[in-house]
Amino acid sequence: MAEVEAATSSLEGLTMDHPEIIYIDEDGGTDSTEHPNSPETPYKTLLFALSLLPPPTTTFHTRKSKTPIPPAEEPSLEYKPAAKSALKKAKTLHDASVRKAAKNAASAAQREKEAAERAEKEKLKLEAAAAFVLKEDESLPTAKLIKIRDSVANRGTRVKVSGWIHRLRVQAHMIFIVLRDGTGYLQCVLEGDLIKTLDALQFIEETSITIHGTIKELPEGKTAPDGHELTADYYVVVGRAPGGDHAIGTIVAPDAEQQLKLDQRHLVLRGEQASGVLKVRAGVLRAFRKAFDDLGLLEVTPPCMVQTQVEGGATLFEFNYYGEKAYLTQSSQLYLETCLPALGDVFCVQESFRAERSVTRRHLSEYTHIEGELAFIQFDDLLNHLEEMISRVLEIVLADPQCKEIIKQLNPDFKVPERPFMRLKYEDAIKWLNEHDIKTDEDKDHVFGDDIAEAAERKMTDIIGKPIFLTHFPVEIKAFYMKKDEKDPRVTESVDVLMPGVGEIVGGSMRMDDLTELMGGYAREGIDPAPYYWFTDQRKYGTCPHGGYGLGLERFLAWLCERWTVRECCLYPRYVGRCTP
Ligand code: 4AD
Repeated sequence: MAEVEAATSSLEGLTMDHPEIIYIDEDGGTDSTEHPNSPETPYKTLLFALSLLPPPTTTFHTRKSKTPIPPAEEPSLEYKPAAKSALKKAKTLHDASVRKAAKNAASAAQREKEAAERAEKEKLKLEAAAAFVLKEDESLPTAKLIKIRDSVANRGTRVKVSGWIHRLRVQAHMIFIVLRDGTGYLQCVLEGDLIKTLDALQFIEETSITIHGTIKELPEGKTAPDGHELTADYYVVVGRAPGGDHAIGTIVAPDAEQQLKLDQRHLVLRGEQASGVLKVRAGVLRAFRKAFDDLGLLEVTPPCMVQTQVEGGATLFEFNYYGEKAYLTQSSQLYLETCLPALGDVFCVQESFRAERSVTRRHLSEYTHIEGELAFIQFDDLLNHLEEMISRVLEIVLADPQCKEIIKQLNPDFKVPERPFMRLKYEDAIKWLNEHDIKTDEDKDHVFGDDIAEAAERKMTDIIGKPIFLTHFPVEIKAFYMKKDEKDPRVTESVDVLMPGVGEIVGGSMRMDDLTELMGGYAREGIDPAPYYWFTDQRKYGTCPHGGYGLGLERFLAWLCERWTVRECCLYPRYVGRCTP
């Protein structure tokens, strides 16, 4: 339509100025009506000239202004009447394009008509829906308010369940909603009057709603969460969710870029995977507390704001504490040590903070640190305790049906590691790395004293393919407080627990319990002992052999739930460049 209109309007100027002859220069012309057609301002093609619908009396004169090929021929600068064959060809093409334009115009008009009819139908439907008021049938028994986790126990009773529309399937006479309330998922079926309301027409994922009805077991062959569904008899929409560009599925599409997903983590958390990891996280925390309790360790809650370092000054977050220099804790270990004479063996679940410069998939700036400290033990006792703790925690977590199911979905190949766990001395690991041609970051062979780099450590752990207790690290690469091995003073009684796919998840050691030795440790690391007076006092007021460890909860979860990064294993990850949301 538009093409035809353009052609007709431009024809007027043309017929007034040059009714008889239209000039075409196949080389130098321009297919435009900007200038009136003339021998000096010719068109380029016959087809264009015809598209302007000239009167039948018009003749067409053509020329080629440039030297044609082969170059031996003279340029045909003179205009001559167009050849019959060229005119016929152009006419055929022109007629075809006129037919096509007419057809397009007709179908566009048809489409417009249909769209207008649809819009009208939709408007009437919305008006009818808006006028339709859904009423609760008062003859039905009062609905009992339940959480979805209690739905199996409430089959057959009239219930009401509040939650969010997790998934939605609309059929001609039925709407299927999978409702989510954090405790589970429940399929609800709506039909009849229930789908005639404006709310029903506008249902969308993440709308919050209270649905009343009766839960019935599904017949063989049909599937839904927990093998049942709620046949709805009434509902109330509590809060609508947006659609279109703002719909949750558009904003956090599964293939969305990582940073965008992290910006929208508050919405990502509503997904099955993200919330599944957090449910396992809660289960793991419960299991640690239970296992600690079973093994007789008491929970304490040390401060996060401190004035001492534990794991080196390089990763300290410093802040101004009423005019004094203070830090966010790197580890609660030193405080746990002070608890031993007061409370016996202790543990804590506390955030630790590390100003890590490097962005890796294993490092967070804030992470949940599970730390234990035990009095009157030897190094072997510490290793045995750690093995017992990890094994017990896994046993407790997998005995929880919800955690077991989520872990099966996230990490289908997970197997509880066999005991005893492999124990490997640092010195032997150095040999192992060289035998397997695994180099340092500088592409050199490993030598005793190297701080084994993350990449090499991970390669070794992945090849060995099971948990490793890597022990007896050299004094120089470990913290000031670690006890030396009496049989080999080059090394400490220290342990890192390494897991396939993740690397180090635990760091632990026996502590220097001798005052003089500890003073030497401060001196070696250039630490002023003054602010540590309370820690040093443990060696003055009845010292004892003791040791402990710290486990990074996010790394433990990354291993258990087979997540690529620890960022998926906490609620809102913090790392270099991210402190939002
Ligand atoms: O090996 P680390 O630094 O040991 C300590 O802090 C000891 N003072 C703990 C103790 O003996 N009570 O850290 C212990 C564990 C690591 O094995 C790792 O799992 C985790 O804490 N961790 C981190 N997790 C995430 N992001 C980081 N930046 C982490 N740094 C350490």
